[in-house]
Amino acid sequence: MLDIDKSIEVVWGIGVGIVVVLSVVHKVIHEAHKVDGMASIGLSHMEVFGDSVMWLMSKVDHNVEGLIGIGMHPEVDSSYKDVEEDGRLKDQLRNDSFSSLERQLIETKEAIERQRKLFKKKQSDKGDTTDAEAGLPEDVLIHDEIYKSRLASIKREEEVILRERDRYELEKGRLIREMKRIRDEDGSRFNNFQILHHRYALLNLLGKGGFSEVYKAFDLVEHRYVACKLHGLNPQWSEEKKQSYMRHAIREYNIHKSLVHHHIVRLWDIFEIDQNTFCTVLEYCSGKDLDAVLKATPILPEKEARVILVQIFQGLIYMNKRTQKIIHYDLKPGNVLFDELGIAKVTDFGLSKIVEDDVGSQGMELTSQGAGTYWYLPPECFELSKTPYISSKVDVWSAGILFYQMLFGRRPFGHDQTQERILREDTIIKARKVDFPTRPAVSNEAKDFIRRCLTYNQIERPDVLTIAQDPYLTYSKK
Ligand SMILES: Nc1ncnc2c1ncn2[C@@H]1O[C@H](COP(=O)(O)OP(=O)(O)O)[C@@H](O)[C@H]1O
Ligand SMILES: [Mg+2]
Repeated sequence: MLDIDKSIEVVWGIGVGIVVVLSVVHKVIHEAHKVDGMASIGLSHMEVFGDSVMWLMSKVDHNVEGLIGIGMHPEVDSSYKDVEEDGRLKDQLRNDSFSSLERQLIETKEAIERQRKLFKKKQSDKGDTTDAEAGLPEDVLIHDEIYKSRLASIKREEEVILRERDRYELEKGRLIREMKRIRDEDGSRFNNFQILHHRYALLNLLGKGGFSEVYKAFDLVEHRYVACKLHGLNPQWSEEKKQSYMRHAIREYNIHKSLVHHHIVRLWDIFEIDQNTFCTVLEYCSGKDLDAVLKATPILPEKEARVILVQIFQGLIYMNKRTQKIIHYDLKPGNVLFDELGIAKVTDFGLSKIVEDDVGSQGMELTSQGAGTYWYLPPECFELSKTPYISSKVDVWSAGILFYQMLFGRRPFGHDQTQERILREDTIIKARKVDFPTRPAVSNEAKDFIRRCLTYNQIERPDVLTIAQDPYLTYSKK
């Protein structure tokens, strides 16, 4: 505990002992993953983690809850709440020790450079006279060499610090996510390893959205891991709100259960838990979601980004080849999951639309304007003067944004803006042309593909089945 107390100081304050902290944090995160195995012997988290968790939780209590507040805010879309929350947390946990270290190095460097100049000046002032104090020409050379080599070693130190800082930033992001997960798990009423529906043994919390908690669970009948998405109605809601919520959830379920495809997360089961709660049972995807992947490595090599894009499109093509076509409407990194083999799967049909048979060529009316995550939605969804018509072209646009983000580490429109600001400043309505950074280098084929996906005018933008023909989405042996 002695060291831990010390490390608290370091992580939230000044200090340089980042390595100590990281190893403690690492341990806690590592332990958190081990909890699965503990479920069977009925140990609680606190018993399993002991002091490390007490420490982490005390930090969560003091540093996180106070900052972000607890509780569900179902009326706000979880994804952008999350983004803003992350930003706030990062600001609060900003660590200045790296900059002070760097400042120190720069000061030393400047001092050496000054000294070197002074020394040289002294030499030239003395002219060629061999003064004992000025030393022999050899001394001069040696001195100069000393300064140069010290400067070179400072440069190396600087590089190490920069690398450390990057690593620390990543670790901090992971820590924030894990703290939020533990906080959410602790506030959840399903955190005591219950067996639901006589069949699903709940393990740890995987993630939490605006309307749901997703737990890893073990299916005792099929003997496989599953993800249980627990949809909870707030008992304090009005009957009307509860009913509209139920309608929403039943729609999501009905759409999703009919989708059986390699690149779409399977929905296995649904059941009621009590009056205010029901559970959908999903195929378990043990990999990170794409959001977590991009937080850890914001830029992916084109080859890797392309194969993720292709898999998303295979899911979309399937959704558009059925008799009852479906618009996902909420394609974004958090809704792309990976299984243990790295196969990408689209999930979260909470906002999707069924395209009825009788829609005209324009598409269907968009009745739920305002929902979704604005960075990924096309301009037609922001149309205010009349009810917009939408089609699978919405998903084509979102996929284009996603692909751009995987390649360049940022979204093309409104990347640094909040959801609210995107609306206020009409960011997407103004998104007529996409610009590409010069780095990283990306093929012209990829850029052309993105341009096609991000065609401003939806009439000209290809729909899913049209863009499916694009050579960029097909692999053939060269
Ligand atoms: N099938 C699954 N396997 C593993 N993790 C999942 C699964 N489904 C959801 N999750 C985790 O839970 C998070 C929220 O799930 P999602 O279905 O997107 O719910 P929401 O509607 O609340 O956004 C996901 O981003 C992911 O991290
Ligand atoms: Mg989601």
